[in-house]
Amino acid sequence: MLTGMNDFKAFRVHLEGERIVPRLERLTLDDLSPGDVVIRGAWSGINYKDALAATGKGRILRRYPLVAGIDIAGTVETSSDPRFRAGDAVVVIGAGLSEVRDGGFAGFARVPGDSVTPLPAGLDLRTAMAIGTAGFTAALALHRMEQNDQRPELGPIAVTGATGGVGSVAIDIFSRRGYQVTALTRKAGAEAYLRGLGASAVEPIPAMAPGDKPLERVRWGGAVDNVGGELLAWLTRTVAPWGTIASVGMAGSAGLSTTVMPFILRGVSLLGISSPDVPRALRLAVWQRLGGDLRPAHLDRIVTREVSLDELPGCFEAYIAGDVTGRTLVRL
Ligand SMILES: NC(=O)c1ccc[n+]([C@@H]2O[C@H](COP(=O)([O-])OP(=O)(O)OC[C@H]3O[C@@H](n4cnc5c(N)ncnc54)[C@H](OP(=O)(O)O)[C@@H]3O)[C@@H](O)[C@H]2O)c1
Repeated sequence: MLTGMNDFKAFRVHLEGERIVPRLERLTLDDLSPGDVVIRGAWSGINYKDALAATGKGRILRRYPLVAGIDIAGTVETSSDPRFRAGDAVVVIGAGLSEVRDGGFAGFARVPGDSVTPLPAGLDLRTAMAIGTAGFTAALALHRMEQNDQRPELGPIAVTGATGGVGSVAIDIFSRRGYQVTALTRKAGAEAYLRGLGASAVEPIPAMAPGDKPLERVRWGGAVDNVGGELLAWLTRTVAPWGTIASVGMAGSAGLSTTVMPFILRGVSLLGISSPDVPRALRLAVWQRLGGDLRPAHLDRIVTREVSLDELPGCFEAYIAGDVTGRTLVRL
């Protein structure tokens, strides 16, 4: 049970020798990395990066020990930053949480004021974490693709890693904006879920031979790619002239081997999407849209699990195995 800033539960990751050892612990505020704003956590959520950090499958933490969790939503407890007052509802995603400072899987977080986003109109704390880094990233991809002149007339948007957190919200918000969306998934049996989010077509990940022709038949107006590797290379070969591919993730591979032909013969754009340290004005603009015209319509379906901190340690392996559908909310 949480009893306050001097005794709260946290999921903290240690390095013992060469081993990553995560533990549920009781901490006090003094254990947390410094910052101007103390937040009483209400909700967090699980992202792929959290699974990498908690299992040690990826070296996400750059110092140890650290509280894991790249996202948190809650209310300000104390603030020496004049932009925030006790009781304000706020959200923090990325911003070095669970990399260089203590993160969101805890009763309290202490963070620099610059990383804090006031809860946007149209969202409550739980909804903000149903969106989380995953949904923010999908919205950032849409926002930046449209800044690069993506529009529905160019053709359908391919979303890879479709059943994951980013993929699920991407399908929801792109379809809401009037795009046809094709969900590309490895999961047989996910069709009803994906169509329920707004996908107009669902396809299995195609078998691809590396080093195929530099250009293939155009299939997509644009794409949101969570997988990387050969799938991303194939997208570069099949996106329409002037279409944009948002490179979001590397769930399959961090590699990319393609040619310049899609870029110089079709004007295809490959857009890098990086959510952790988005410049403040852009971050606020995207969150504002998430509470407004991009508010996902199907979060009730996308949130497939809600767990307590006690249940959290058992959640990560499924992410590494790629078995998860939708998002997991964490009750703090
Ligand atoms: N750039 C950024 O700022 C940013 C922000 C958030 C996330 N990401 C990255 O984006 C990716 C998705 O994140 P997420 O939170 O949505 O993760 P997630 O919920 O775990 O979903 C990942 C999805 O990718 C697919 N997948 C998993 N392993 C795969 C493999 N070995 N080969 C091919 N497909 C695989 C699966 O979808 P299907 O079974 O449907 O194919 C899985 O549901 C991750 O790589 C994450 O690190 C990046």
